[in-house]
Amino acid sequence: MAPVSSAPQRIAPIGVFDSGVGGLTVLHELLVALPQEDFVYLGDSARFPYGDRTARELQDFSRQIADVLLARGAKLIVVACNSATSGALADLQAHVAASAHPVDVIGVVGPESNLAVVTTRNGRVGLLATPATVATGAYERAVLTADPLVRLASVACPELAQISQTGAPITERDVEIVRAYCAPLREAGVDTVILGCTHYPFVRALLQRVLGPGISLITSGTAIARRVEHALAARDLETAHVGEGRYDFLCTGDAAAFAEVGTRFLQLPVGAVEHVDLGPVGPLPTEALA
Ligand code: DGL
Repeated sequence: MAPVSSAPQRIAPIGVFDSGVGGLTVLHELLVALPQEDFVYLGDSARFPYGDRTARELQDFSRQIADVLLARGAKLIVVACNSATSGALADLQAHVAASAHPVDVIGVVGPESNLAVVTTRNGRVGLLATPATVATGAYERAVLTADPLVRLASVACPELAQISQTGAPITERDVEIVRAYCAPLREAGVDTVILGCTHYPFVRALLQRVLGPGISLITSGTAIARRVEHALAARDLETAHVGEGRYDFLCTGDAAAFAEVGTRFLQLPVGAVEHVDLGPVGPLPTEALA
């Protein structure tokens, strides 16, 4: 008979990734909704931001990251980045399905769109997102699938992730930029706005003030937490572990910087961060921060 090990059983983690620290707002919701699960998070901070990347780049990066997460035993992969979900989800699902360890891959766009559609009362929904996300039309398709009669007004916000990321005090100029992004949504008469980027929960109060108190704001984290919960239950993948699980971090850039900025995004201690090298970063936008 094989000896019974008394060592604590390591449970398969849920793999989560993003272009950097932003997806920690999504991980935050997952840690609250599923405290007993283990998570491994990869932030591709060396190649941040993803918001101006081409679909091809997003697909290549996402495949590389998924391979790392699968090698760490991920039982499910969550694409916590709106830009990567919009540009690469279908490609990534096919890549993982064909791998030696096929698991489900869930992105933020579908759950967020579904939540927006059930939230709106007047059938007019707004979207604030990065240029890459808006350019793919992924939210239009997802909203249309949920309800063909709901109209979506989309605004590309090239500077909003940057404003949220620095943690610097919000300036009058920042407020002006936010007003300009919100103006088309006010004109379109939307009653619900999708915050289609991991960073935007950090300017939620400012967005709510500019859009008005009657507007419902939908974030990626809250929408996907329920979806992941359901995916685990439906596939019998829930951990049997009782109590708090562990969460580990990998990043492609400066691990110390990731830990420092990440703590603000996660609102929980980040602890040790392991650096992983994913190869060439490609041309970097000049104002990359993470
Ligand atoms: N995670 C990215 C997103 O949600 C943040 C912005 C970026 O990398 O450009 O689109």
